[in-house]
Amino acid sequence: MILSIESSCDDSSIAITEIATKKVLYHKKISQEEQHSCYGGVVPELASRLHAVALPEILKETKPYFGKLKAIAVTNQPGLGVTLLEGIAMAKTLSVLLDIPLIPVHHLKGHIYSLFIEKEPILPLLVLLISGGHTQVIRVESFEHMEILATSMDDSVGESFDKCAKMMGLGYPGGPLIEALALKGYVNHFELPIPLRNSPLIAFSLSGLKNAVRLQAEALGGIEGMSEQDRADLSASFQKAVKLHLIQKSKKIFAKEEIKDFAIVGGASANRYLRNAYQDLCDEFGKTLHVAPLEYCSDNAAMIGRYAVEAYERKLFIDPNAIDIVSTKKQQSGMLL
Ligand code: KG4
Ligand code: ZN
Repeated sequence: MILSIESSCDDSSIAITEIATKKVLYHKKISQEEQHSCYGGVVPELASRLHAVALPEILKETKPYFGKLKAIAVTNQPGLGVTLLEGIAMAKTLSVLLDIPLIPVHHLKGHIYSLFIEKEPILPLLVLLISGGHTQVIRVESFEHMEILATSMDDSVGESFDKCAKMMGLGYPGGPLIEALALKGYVNHFELPIPLRNSPLIAFSLSGLKNAVRLQAEALGGIEGMSEQDRADLSASFQKAVKLHLIQKSKKIFAKEEIKDFAIVGGASANRYLRNAYQDLCDEFGKTLHVAPLEYCSDNAAMIGRYAVEAYERKLFIDPNAIDIVSTKKQQSGMLL
C-alpha cells in the first residue's frame, strides 16, 4: 500500500491506495473553505497553520495500515510553498521512521491521474485541466510524456470564478456558488466580452473578462447595491462567457488533434454547465469525454496515490533528505516537468 499526502493549497488530505488493485482503501480530506471564505481567497499562512493541525489528525486514523505500507507519496509541486512544506515534513518523517521509499508527486499530474482512480490508464489522452491555479490543455501520450498545448496567459478558470464571486460578495470558493446562482439567472442579461475571440492564438485569458465583471458589478452599485437577481444574472452571463471562450479555443485544438479520448480535470471540472458544453463538443468531434468522480475533481490525496502507484512501479523515489518544494514559474509550454 502507498500512503499519499496532499497539502498544496487549502485541502489537507491523506489516502491509502493498494498497489496491486489500485483501490482506494482509505481517503479523507479536511477542507479549509470556511476559514478562508471571509477573505475571498486562500491566505497561505493561515492555510499552513490549519494543515499543521488537520494532517496529524487524519494521519492518526491511518495507523492500522502502517505495517503494510511500501511507500509514502507527497505533492511537492506546484502549490503554495508554506503549505506544501507541511505535507513534505510529514512525508519525510514517515519515510525515515518506517524506512520505506518516498515518492514526490507533481500536483497537476495527480489531477490527470484522478481519472484513473481504481482504473487502468486511458492513454493517449487529451486533457483540459481547469483548477484554481491552472488552465491548460495537455497532451498525455504516456506516464512519461505529457505536453502542454495551451495555457492561460493570466488568471486560471477557477481563480476567475473565485474573484468574480468575491466582487459579488458571494464567498469562497466561488466556482460552486456561481454555478448554483447561474441556474437562477439569464445568460444573455449582461453582454460580457469573450476573451481572445478574434485572436488566432491557441491560449486562454480570463483577466479581461474578470475586469468586465468588476465594471458591471460596480455599475450595479457594488456588493451593497446589487439585488439577488443581479447576482444571478451576472453569474450566468459570466459563466456563459467562460464556456464560450474555453469551447472556442478547444475547438481549434480538437481540429488538429487526432486523439479520440478527451478529459476535463481539476476543481472546475465539477461544473456541470461546462461539462455539458464539453459533452456536446466531444459529440460533434467524435471524441469520448472522461471526467473524474465529483469527489476527486478538487484537490485530494487519492489522485496523488494513484499517480504514485505508477511511480512506485518505475521506482521513482527520492532521498528523504533531498526532497523539497519545487518552486518553478508557472509552466507556459513544453513538457510537463
Ligand atoms: O483543483 P482545485 O481543488 O485546486 C487547485 O489545484 O487549484 O480547484 C479549486 C478551484 C477553485 O478555484 C474553485 O472555485 C473551482 O476549483 N471550482 C469550480 C467549481 N467547483 C470548484 N469552478 C467552477 N465551477 C465549479 N462547480
Ligand atoms: Zn489542484
